Amino acid sequence: MNVQDLMETAKSLVANNKGLLAMDESNPTCNRRFAKLSIPQTEESRRAYRELIITTPSLSEYISGVILYDETIRQHKKDGTSFIKVLSDAGIITGIKVDIGAKDMAGHPREKITEGLDGLRDRLKEYFQMGARFAKWRAVITIADGIPSRGCIEANAQSLARYAALCQETGLVPIVEPEVLMDGVHSLSQCSEITEEVLRTVFNQLYTQRVMLEGMILKPNMVLSGLTCSQQESVDEVADATVNCLSRVVPAAVPTIAFLSGGQSAELASARLNAMNFRFKSRSPWALAFSFARAIQQPALEIWQGKEANVSKAQQALLHRTKCNWAACQGVYNAAMEGVGT
Ligand code: 13P
Repeated sequence: MNVQDLMETAKSLVANNKGLLAMDESNPTCNRRFAKLSIPQTEESRRAYRELIITTPSLSEYISGVILYDETIRQHKKDGTSFIKVLSDAGIITGIKVDIGAKDMAGHPREKITEGLDGLRDRLKEYFQMGARFAKWRAVITIADGIPSRGCIEANAQSLARYAALCQETGLVPIVEPEVLMDGVHSLSQCSEITEEVLRTVFNQLYTQRVMLEGMILKPNMVLSGLTCSQQESVDEVADATVNCLSRVVPAAVPTIAFLSGGQSAELASARLNAMNFRFKSRSPWALAFSFARAIQQPALEIWQGKEANVSKAQQALLHRTKCNWAACQGVYNAAMEGVGT
């Protein structure tokens, strides 16, 4: 492990208030999103869509790294240029999702355990040789009656930590993503309590597995009421609850917290990230950044509809979201930025 290189990569991933663009949906997830818009669910459609994203003009002004999926990292533009080359020519760092999905957890009804540790060392080496410099592993935690269980939290935390240690051994910065899902009727305070317990367990495991905190990125959920909870807090209340929760459990040595969007609308995700930076940036030990998938891509996907003629408009919508989130990283995003295209 080259400690200096890991720290440098972790830093450059959020330099100049830029953030990360997650485009690492597995084929089933990508196909599900395509199906909703009647876009053909083929390898060629997925390739064309990902080409649209990475060739967005000026993307690197707001995005420092993108997270790819195994199929995508091996793909090429229509003209034959590899996606990896397109990204490196644009000065964007390539990342790769390396877990193989959240599966039903034995003995724990309604709960999931993320798999992918078997053979991981060799897969990481291959991705590093291909040019990837960071990786992602996502664990999912569900809040419902009687869950999450300690068994689920501990097993996922240990897998995240073992993955992170293997990444650092290989020279890849691990994005550690324990996602407490938004689905459900739970309150904001329940989400805060569970998020705190999950993160405490994750950091205990990261410590036990000797992960270097300076060379990793945490990708958590924001602290929110459940999607179907009747009470929905204001943007500022969400920002306060999220930063308060994180400040209890995330060591200052971690350079960056890059949030997932988790199903929030694109505008709300930007507004909440903005409020966190507006209120806390000057005294926060970590950079508060973004690593959104849906909250960056969804408007563009809806415009594209699988049609070549819509590519340029879709790219403008994608760039607009990245710019809004770049502004949110500085606490200068506002609603007036919406509705003006790029
Ligand atoms: P969302 O922003 O759509 O939640 O996706 C982030 C991500 O990378 C999920 O693993």
